Amino acid sequence: MSKIQMPLKALNEEEYKQFISDSFSSLISDEVSASILYLIVSNFLGVSLGKVLKEHSVQEHGHASKLIDYAINHGIVFDISLEGNENIDYSVQGLLQYVEKLEEDAIEDYKTMSLVANKYGDVELYELMKDIMMDETEHYDELAIYIEKVRKVGYVKVSDTEVMITDDTEK
Ligand SMILES: [Fe+2]
Ligand SMILES: [Fe+2]
Repeated sequence: MSKIQMPLKALNEEEYKQFISDSFSSLISDEVSASILYLIVSNFLGVSLGKVLKEHSVQEHGHASKLIDYAINHGIVFDISLEGNENIDYSVQGLLQYVEKLEEDAIEDYKTMSLVANKYGDVELYELMKDIMMDETEHYDELAIYIEKVRKVGYVKVSDTEVMITDDTEK
């Protein structure tokens, strides 16, 4: 369900600028969403997993920040929208599945963007896209481990607080 599509025809300068602007709006919005959702789910999963997921949140914030810096420096106009997040299942599994999908889409989106940047000789943009794509690939791989852990070890719901039944199995 990646959102950014390869342009089907050669873009002139103005069309390229519009493409970058639309793409940045989508990328930045997803980074902000990912940052918030990682922060929420980090609260559910005990100390050690929680810390890692909180660190992902910080990195997604960092990605949004890098993209915004780039946009400001290059006169790229963007809109941040959190639309589409209304129907999220805010259980641990629901949140993990949602961020997994965000990571999967992010990898595809940054890949598409790096291909386009490369095609148009936009070296600085290419480097930025590749750089973030590497982080997203790491996130995705790490996340698969946590999802498996939650599936295996499970967690219990105690009143309003969901608490994972530890990852002591590792020790
Ligand atoms: Fe990110
Ligand atoms: Fe990520």
